[in-house]
Amino acid sequence: MVPIQLYIVIVTIFATIAALALLYGLGLAAVWLNQTFGSGTWSGWEVEVEDDGTRKEHQWRRSNAVTSFFRRTALKATKESEQEQIDHFPNSSRYIPHTNATFAQRYFFDDSYYKPGGPVFLYIGGETSGESRFSNLETGILQILMQATNGLGVILENRYYGESYPFGESTTDELRFLTTEQSIADNEYFATHATFPGVNATLTAPGTPWILYGGSLAGAQTAFSLKTYGGPDGVLWGGIASSGTTQAKLAYVEWYDPIQKFGPQDCVASINAIVQKIDHVFATGNATAIHQMKAVFGLQALTNNGDFAMTIAFPLGGPMNYPTNTWQELVWDPAQGSDDFWLFCTNVTNLDAPENITQVDYALAQYTDGEPWINLGKYANYIKQYLIPICDGAPIDSTECFGTQDASYWADTSNSGSRSYLYSTCTEAGLYQVARPYGPSLISRVLQVNYTQQWCNWAFPAGEHNSIPSTPELWHINKYGGYNVSADRLAHIDGDQDVWLDVCYHSNDAPRRLSPNPTDAEMHPQLLIAGAGHHWDSYGILNVSAEPQFIRNAHLWEIRTVEKWLRQCEFLAVATVMYHVVVEG
Ligand SMILES: *[C@@H]1O[C@H](CO)[C@@H](O)[C@H](O)[C@H]1NC(C)=O
Ligand SMILES: *[C@@H]1O[C@H](CO)[C@@H](O)[C@H](O)[C@H]1NC(C)=O
Ligand SMILES: *[C@@H]1O[C@H](CO)[C@@H](O)[C@H](O)[C@H]1NC(C)=O
Ligand SMILES: *[C@@H]1O[C@H](CO)[C@@H](O)[C@H](O)[C@H]1NC(C)=O
Ligand SMILES: *[C@@H]1O[C@H](CO)[C@@H](O)[C@H](O)[C@H]1NC(C)=O
Ligand SMILES: *[C@@H]1O[C@H](CO)[C@@H](O)[C@H](O)[C@H]1NC(C)=O
Ligand SMILES: *[C@@H]1O[C@H](CO)[C@@H](O)[C@H](O)[C@H]1NC(C)=O
Ligand SMILES: *[C@@H]1O[C@H](CO)[C@@H](O)[C@H](O)[C@H]1NC(C)=O
Ligand SMILES: *[C@@H]1O[C@H](CO)[C@@H](O)[C@H](O)[C@H]1NC(C)=O
Repeated sequence: MVPIQLYIVIVTIFATIAALALLYGLGLAAVWLNQTFGSGTWSGWEVEVEDDGTRKEHQWRRSNAVTSFFRRTALKATKESEQEQIDHFPNSSRYIPHTNATFAQRYFFDDSYYKPGGPVFLYIGGETSGESRFSNLETGILQILMQATNGLGVILENRYYGESYPFGESTTDELRFLTTEQSIADNEYFATHATFPGVNATLTAPGTPWILYGGSLAGAQTAFSLKTYGGPDGVLWGGIASSGTTQAKLAYVEWYDPIQKFGPQDCVASINAIVQKIDHVFATGNATAIHQMKAVFGLQALTNNGDFAMTIAFPLGGPMNYPTNTWQELVWDPAQGSDDFWLFCTNVTNLDAPENITQVDYALAQYTDGEPWINLGKYANYIKQYLIPICDGAPIDSTECFGTQDASYWADTSNSGSRSYLYSTCTEAGLYQVARPYGPSLISRVLQVNYTQQWCNWAFPAGEHNSIPSTPELWHINKYGGYNVSADRLAHIDGDQDVWLDVCYHSNDAPRRLSPNPTDAEMHPQLLIAGAGHHWDSYGILNVSAEPQFIRNAHLWEIRTVEKWLRQCEFLAVATVMYHVVVEG
């Protein structure tokens, strides 16, 4: 006789299987419904070009298909490997030995707003993969501009990012074609050769107006592209450089200025005072004291003082990289930004912290003539409670956690976006985030140029054809004009609370920016958004009217600006036809 318990087990198993099957069926039905009745096409297709030149097409899907159920756009991905030259400058001694080889540069486009006669908006990929820019095409600035002008939007992935690598690895030699001038030449080549499968029109520049948009590094590349390939004889019609970091410099102390100026001042003053005391202890060189100070933060394992200083700076922004979100990641739309910075400050200034945490303020008082380190306990507790757990148990001094002194880690030549970005930093852009030599600082003064430079030296040992300079060769970027870069129909839009502001057009170091007359405001548009951070105009919520006022009006300004440019273009087209008819008969 089978015991009753066994029946229950069997019935439960079958019921579970049936329930799972039903769920799976519902999932399939949802996908089918999405594809059949969804207001967008949801999936696209990908063209891959084999080595022998044959083209292979296959269905392409977004990884987060479920969340795109209600998506209205039709994103398509293409991979055109025959298109891009690795070396656009066969005559330049900088790229000897030259190559005629090409590489696959990916682009992604949305033609769901496109109507014949509409412009093309080229979103410059910059220092990340094409996929990570999708939101700007779906809900952000490109969606806004496409909708307003019946345009087609396309993201071009930057060379050496995402999957657009010319080589299988990134040795110093293989990275030698990652330069600003090669990257912007890709933009020009793409604009004059791009095809959009499924779109029944030839949309290449200059026959169709191409308008570039880029934020941050891509904003700088937008400006340089317009400067080089725009204007009366150029092929690019216009461009919007958003928080474009157009000025290269070695040490960028100003990165922390907006936090210093606009951050909650009780929090800021506490960090300033603690940092000053930390630097005093470093200055004594007393190893016991330094070890004890690191231990307060749970970071005594970090033997390198720079690594310690960088780690405790992470909530504010460590040099080059940081694992959490900072002032830079604040965004007006809470769905797209992160509140980590505010939460860090409410921790540091928490009035209700328990006594065993506030007592830590006295732990190092012996090194400051008995003076307590106000809010040290809460700062240290935040590091211990919210930062160290990110390492998931990895040894704190290892490169999996907060150590950076293992040269072999940097020497890994695998392709990666962070390696490509470091290469550009070390060779052309600089902008090492370092502490100010005098006055209040949010990061320790042990963080100087040489701390970042050591990573450059470890990462890029001299190759056969290429070696990195001992310090970045800034003129490769500044030759375009730095923060003064100007071109016809090049718009500059910045945020006055952006950490990168001082290397952008509206830098505090730049001449006062004025639009002297309406014509200049049309040909050289510029706008500084009050209260905004890093390329805040790139974000959208599919309804401009519902945005906060300064962003809404920035978007209305961008729409007007682009519409004016398109009218100029139509006028020119009509004038050209008239010229042919009237003058040439
Ligand atoms: C390179 O130089 C040759 C010979 O002077 C010239 O014909 C060619 O146009 C140049 N190529 C580029 C890309 O400048
Ligand atoms: C590239 O092609 C041109 C034209 O065919 C040729 O003159 C040149 O030598 C080639 N360069 C290399 C590096 O192979
Ligand atoms: C493509 O456009 C041309 C001219 O605008 C038109 O004659 C043709 O029918 C279109 N083809 C398709 C497949 O829609
Ligand atoms: C370093 O600090 C410790 C602890 O306060 C103290 O005992 C020691 O004398 C100091 N060493 C020097 C060299 O000042
Ligand atoms: C401290 O920070 C954590 C993590 O961000 C957050 O969850 C918590 O609410 C903060 N606490 C206070 C008192 O602000
Ligand atoms: C403070 O005391 C609480 C409760 O007694 C304990 O959970 C916590 O770990 C202590 N924190 C520190 C920093 O000692
Ligand atoms: C950077 O320079 C300072 C001052 O010369 C020196 O104390 C420090 O050890 C150097 N750091 C590195 C990483 O070389
Ligand atoms: C920008 O232009 C101003 C005024 O024309 C000039 O004084 C300044 O040197 C320029 N700055 C750069 C970085 O080119
Ligand atoms: C957009 O936002 C405005 C203002 O909040 C609202 O009145 C309008 O209905 C919204 N439009 C859509 C299509 O949701």
